[in-house]
Amino acid sequence: MSQKDNYSIMVHGGAGALDNVKDEKTAVRYIESIRQILEHGREVMKLGGSALQAVEACASLLEDDPVFNAGCGSVLNEQGKVEMDAGIMDGRDLSAGAIASVSNIANPVQLARLVMTESEHVMLISEGAKRFAEHCGMDLTQDEYFLTPDRVEQLKEAKRSHKMILDHDETDTGGEDQKYGTIGAIARDPSGNLASATSTGGIVNKRMGRVGDSPIVGSGVYADNETCAVSATGYGEDFMRTVISKTISDFIFMKGMNAEEATHAGIEYLSRKVKGRGGVIVIDNEGNCSSGFTTKKMIHGWIEKGGETKVRFK
Ligand code: GLY
Repeated sequence: MSQKDNYSIMVHGGAGALDNVKDEKTAVRYIESIRQILEHGREVMKLGGSALQAVEACASLLEDDPVFNAGCGSVLNEQGKVEMDAGIMDGRDLSAGAIASVSNIANPVQLARLVMTESEHVMLISEGAKRFAEHCGMDLTQDEYFLTPDRVEQLKEAKRSHKMILDHDETDTGGEDQKYGTIGAIARDPSGNLASATSTGGIVNKRMGRVGDSPIVGSGVYADNETCAVSATGYGEDFMRTVISKTISDFIFMKGMNAEEATHAGIEYLSRKVKGRGGVIVIDNEGNCSSGFTTKKMIHGWIEKGGETKVRFK
């Protein structure tokens, strides 16, 4: 393998039962979307793009696919409104950008990147984030773009059962037809730079103003060239309490673990401390890819060290 082909990319589209996927055709639809998005990431790398460019591009495509809980497929809060969170991090210098509880932004991950590069802050929320988007020349998107029939029905069901539904899991609400969701992309480019991006609509029927782990550095998103890149998906409160992405990075930094060992240790910690629900994708500083989850399934895929594209729907 030549040096320029030594890149790794991973993406995920949510962890959990994914029991809304009842037939082969729908499963293939998820798998093909993940595969195509990984191939797009490969093109970015082949054209000399950075890890940061690759994760922004892949996360944007995941946000543009309504089957995933982010961007146009975001779930609805208790008011029937979309409030999205996203974060992006550059492992070269730990620069990070995030937005929380934001509406009318088609690609929250792109706004997070602008917060990182065009402001002196790490996180902007709600109306302030929207104003910043306009200041940067980003178009605002009408509410209708986000209100898919599936998401409206999902909220009705949550209200009928008086529950918050966690996009992609069967636990907590007891049913088998819910799913946790979040999308994420991580990458290591041939220069050894790591980056991570995570984006979500959060939890169905969540309280207005609730923010999850996805935009929180060290919880749902983390990248450090010295250790690894991590993106998490699942019940955000569990990841915030365990600072799971930074914990995995610390296992590498302090204990000399590789991606697989650190992922295993991180998932064990998540389960033991808070019975955490969800999963992570991890690329270490040598380009090794790893994933782990406590839910039944996590849809994710990877290209390890320029190799073939692999997708796993379990
Ligand atoms: N992991 C997404 C959320 O809890 O909002």
